[in-house]
Amino acid sequence: MFYPEDLVEEVRTRNDIVDVISGYVKLTRRGNSYWGLCPFHNEKSPSFHVIGDRQMYHCFGCGAGGNVFTFLMNYENYTFREAVKVLADRAGVRLPEVEYTEEMRRKEDRKARLLEVNKEAAKFFYWQLRTPRGETGYQYLKKRQLTDETMKKFGLGYAGKRGSDLIQYLKSKGYEDDLILEAGLGNYSESRGLSSQFWNRVMFPIQDLNHRVIGFGGRVMGDGEPKYLNSPETPIFDKRRNLYGLSFARTARMGNIILCEGYMDVIAMHQAGFSQAVASLGTAFTAEQAGILRRYTENVLLAYDSDGAGVKAALRGIGILREAGLSAKVIDLRPYKDPDEFMKNLGKDAFQERIGQAENSFFYEVRMLERDFDLDDPEGKTRFHREIAKKLCLFQEAVERENYLTAIAQKYHIVYEDLRKLVSSVAAQTGLARPIERPRQAVSQKASPEENAKRSQRLLISWLVDEPGLYRKIQEYISPKDFTEELYRKVAERMFEDLGKGSFQPAEMVSLFEDEEEQKEVAQLFSASLPRLDTASQREKAFRDILLSVKKNSFEYYTSRLGSDVDALKQVIDGKKALEALAKTHISLD
Ligand code: UTP
Ligand code: MN
Repeated sequence: MFYPEDLVEEVRTRNDIVDVISGYVKLTRRGNSYWGLCPFHNEKSPSFHVIGDRQMYHCFGCGAGGNVFTFLMNYENYTFREAVKVLADRAGVRLPEVEYTEEMRRKEDRKARLLEVNKEAAKFFYWQLRTPRGETGYQYLKKRQLTDETMKKFGLGYAGKRGSDLIQYLKSKGYEDDLILEAGLGNYSESRGLSSQFWNRVMFPIQDLNHRVIGFGGRVMGDGEPKYLNSPETPIFDKRRNLYGLSFARTARMGNIILCEGYMDVIAMHQAGFSQAVASLGTAFTAEQAGILRRYTENVLLAYDSDGAGVKAALRGIGILREAGLSAKVIDLRPYKDPDEFMKNLGKDAFQERIGQAENSFFYEVRMLERDFDLDDPEGKTRFHREIAKKLCLFQEAVERENYLTAIAQKYHIVYEDLRKLVSSVAAQTGLARPIERPRQAVSQKASPEENAKRSQRLLISWLVDEPGLYRKIQEYISPKDFTEELYRKVAERMFEDLGKGSFQPAEMVSLFEDEEEQKEVAQLFSASLPRLDTASQREKAFRDILLSVKKNSFEYYTSRLGSDVDALKQVIDGKKALEALAKTHISLD
């Protein structure tokens, strides 16, 4: 934590969440909470609510949720520290100068220097492009139909004929050799000494969320290998966690993000007004990038190349996006190869039309699958249908699976009943899904044991947030160690301590986590909705199931660690006792 915890807490309590959010979202009071249109996704009827008592917000539509800090972090794209600072100013709380450890200071300083040298290099390239010597580069970009304004917006530049020019320039500005090396702006060789690998290329500076230059991509003008040369990874350039164009796209608020393959695609898209376009950085799209996109949208449109490699990349991307809980659709660019070419030939209205026609990712996957089978051959056709059935089994939710089943049966002229039977039999054979629907239970039996364990832990925490009084009743049976998920354990540690003291504040907990993804998960944990159950006995049974599931999982977890973990033996013995005691105990919820 950068600032002392109690100071952060003071800042938080001095900024009423309803007041703060009212500055951004029109809120209407309904009962105990305030409702409005969610600023984090596109919607027409309000599903975003702010709970004054809890000082938290939650959106039933997109799942966004958190406290006053996370709201500003998500809305304004502030870091946690920035959000604390802004709110401290707002409430007139004075923050101390931050005290760094020696090691932290050294790292921060180094990063700051790396950012500086990159910025200086970007300036050098930018300036070169706009001198007579940069004419080749300028003409190349003109030929690719980029306007001066676009070149400026993306800070495009040019690296001249000699790799030593950049180095000389940087050195004249006082940057040392080892910094230039660490920034990936130059290489050392016996014959030439320190020299830049970026020469005779048009340069694309890569910016982070805050428009700071963290690396470069350089393109040859014409044919040549490699087509793009990229900066290597450095302490400030993490290719898995950045996206080209995101510094602009994050505030585009178009209701979706368009994911492209190339730098030029992003630029052409922005030039045509699609400022929500981004691309990965010369590497395949990653789960980390999907997690970052989820902060801004739930709808991702893939505008990948229409060639074989593009299809493969799109299929991979769909999997990653689905895993991240994002909805994906695929834009058909044919007959053109990529968004850049499409835009040049058909223009933005046609592209907008293609966005409207974007294909549901499941249908896309099935359509691509179809190409592997000979449908004129009964055997090929059967195998294709079996593959479809396998894919349908992957839907966890019965309703969703049913909807797709109906749609696919219609689309591929398969008799609905036949396909349904096929799904059931594939499910039975592979154990992928339950062929028969079971009544909904608090602890789902469909998911894997790990998912179930995680879910029970999550539900138990959510339940205690909802009814803190329950903690007293289960205190003797449960400890933070029973939470085998690290994040949940951290939450439970603090939460149980506070509950014990009778001073538990969900909104406070959120800001104890520094990592943004963690904050978001904690916030979700605290605003998750519990299973809707009607009768008291249903509720009691559900709660008991959850508690037992957490305890059983913990017991198994520590049993499997006997011998490797010194703590395990005590946990196993205690766990066994607690399970036995619980078997005899009735826990009432009133
Ligand atoms: P493409 O070959 O599709 O490039 O590669 P592009 O962006 O359409 O470029 P133009 O239109 O031919 O100029 C897609 C992305 O893959 C990475 C780059 O990030 C590029 O934008 N790439 C490609 C490399 O990093 N190195 C290469 O040699 C080629
Ligand atoms: Mn291209």
